[in-house]
Amino acid sequence: MQICRTVSDIRAAVARFRAAGEGVGLVTTMGALHDGHMALVSEARGAHDRVVATIFVNPTQFGEAADLENYPRTEARDLEMLEAAGVDAVLIPEVSEIYPEGDETIVETTRLANILHGAVRPGHFRGVTTVVAKLFNICQPDAAYFGEKDFQQLHVIKRMVRDLHMPLNIRGVPTVREADGLAMSSRNVRLTPEDRAAAPVLSRALDAAQTSGAGRVEDLARIIRETIATEPRATLKGLDIVWLSDFSPATGRLTAPVGIMISAEFGRGDNHVLLIDQREVHP
Ligand code: PAF
Repeated sequence: MQICRTVSDIRAAVARFRAAGEGVGLVTTMGALHDGHMALVSEARGAHDRVVATIFVNPTQFGEAADLENYPRTEARDLEMLEAAGVDAVLIPEVSEIYPEGDETIVETTRLANILHGAVRPGHFRGVTTVVAKLFNICQPDAAYFGEKDFQQLHVIKRMVRDLHMPLNIRGVPTVREADGLAMSSRNVRLTPEDRAAAPVLSRALDAAQTSGAGRVEDLARIIRETIATEPRATLKGLDIVWLSDFSPATGRLTAPVGIMISAEFGRGDNHVLLIDQREVHP
């Protein structure tokens, strides 16, 4: 596996693949890899001659400085995992490589970025689309792979690619879960043992809504609130139910597929950890 620290090195690696007539799949990450990331790599591995990965903790998508500072960094282990999974080249750039001195260009999906999770985390999705657009331009893949867990992120990226006519496919990959249902996330390692034991309440709430047979969106929301309320360590921060067709808020009778997105905080003060989960419910 070739380890590239600069844009020109990864471009040269991809150019060699292309010169040999090989297709390229891309997996972008912020490191602290877990089985969820490896599922993306494995999908890409199965579909392309070459797989390129990126590890970059993107400062522009973090709101609080503490969140950025506390973000886990496990480079040596990440590289071993990527190599073992058959990744051909990895880009691990410094911040100044991606955001050179004087950088002033942003990419934003103006509506989708600022609703739902985006309304709670101003600027977050703008940071994501800006860095992902840069990484697409740098690596020029045929397809890029994103987890369905970050449901709004996946839709935001699909919209950006469509609107800007970017020449690649975006593939969503189902969420990988721990045995107790907790969605895998790099943030899980920051949970105290007590909060870790409490965290599966998110997937339990989504399961309860999905299997309830509820015919109205308001009933799905009630079931989720009631389930989360059974866990005193969890504070529900966001609950959004949208029509999958256009991501507009869903209300009334469940006449078409909806996406449910929840976020909840575990722990208190500087040690709090915000976790998210998501589910599609079809009528
Ligand atoms: O999902 C992530 O890990 C990040 O948001 C991404 C897509 C790598 C952009 O920094």
